[in-house]
Amino acid sequence: MTTKLLALAQARVASAIDHWLPSIDAEPLSLHQAMRYAALAKGKRLRPALVYAAGAVFHLDPAQLDGPACAVELIHAYSLVHDDLPAMDDDALRRGQPTCHIKYGEAAAILAGDALQCLAFQVLSDDPHMACSAQQRCQMIKVLAQASGSQGMAGGQAMDLEAEGKNLPIDALDAIHQRKTGRLISASVLLGALAAPHVKPKQLQALQSFGEKIGFAFQIQDDILDIEGDSEFMGKTPGVDQARQKLTYPALCGLAFAREKTQELHREALHSLQAFGADAEPLRQLSEFIISRKH
Ligand code: IPE
Ligand code: IPE
Ligand code: MG
Ligand code: MG
Ligand code: MG
Repeated sequence: MTTKLLALAQARVASAIDHWLPSIDAEPLSLHQAMRYAALAKGKRLRPALVYAAGAVFHLDPAQLDGPACAVELIHAYSLVHDDLPAMDDDALRRGQPTCHIKYGEAAAILAGDALQCLAFQVLSDDPHMACSAQQRCQMIKVLAQASGSQGMAGGQAMDLEAEGKNLPIDALDAIHQRKTGRLISASVLLGALAAPHVKPKQLQALQSFGEKIGFAFQIQDDILDIEGDSEFMGKTPGVDQARQKLTYPALCGLAFAREKTQELHREALHSLQAFGADAEPLRQLSEFIISRKH
């Protein structure tokens, strides 16, 4: 079932990204090729799946959600390109292929990331299929900007790099994980809901709480997979966290505690969805996927 949700998101978002990205023969060629290489590579498309699943709570047509799903995935793709750069995690394998800077060079990878980020906001401001008010559109742009910026993903990435080699308390690690990964995942859930015409503040609050729990669990599972995972299956090289002395859950608290923490967050996430009944089933399934995934 989760496989179905992810497969649907994969197909829809690939076609949306293909539509919004300039064609491969548009100048500047190398930049557009690098953008396509990174954004159209085989990712899980979990964040788009969350957009569609949150929209399904409000019975939205998937076509109304393609814009936000595409926007959040473009931000995610940009974050991966920059995360892999030599100045950051210095990784050579991503989504089963050489990282963007290995394939196109560092300058092109930096610019591809910059341009993917800009395109995300262009899509949100411009997509004609989003059936929401101009005010909601602005709200969505704000949610995505906050989740991506210095108090969201980019801030978390800065804190992640500063924490390398340090033995900080668990609160500091929680703050890093929530920012670098949690905020964008939580924003994915919110964007799906904000695409609906009449969402109540209480519903948004519940979905935000759900998103924060699963976003946090997602990064802990990522840390676990860096120790236990299989390179072929994950499409990236495991073991890099220990090599770079990253501050991670398993490093700080051990694997057993890290696993327990994901279970606890999953339970809390499900609790946040209580008011939604059967309409939230796809969101529940994605939460289960996040803590049991092997890639
Ligand atoms: C990897 O994200 C980066 C993190 C935030 C941990 P994903 O595991 O969702 O990567 P793709 O999109 O499937 O490649
Ligand atoms: C990255 O976390 C989070 C991002 C914002 C991209 P990681 O550095 O652990 O992600 P991977 O393991 O390289 O995918
Ligand atoms: Mg990193
Ligand atoms: Mg990394
Ligand atoms: Mg990782």
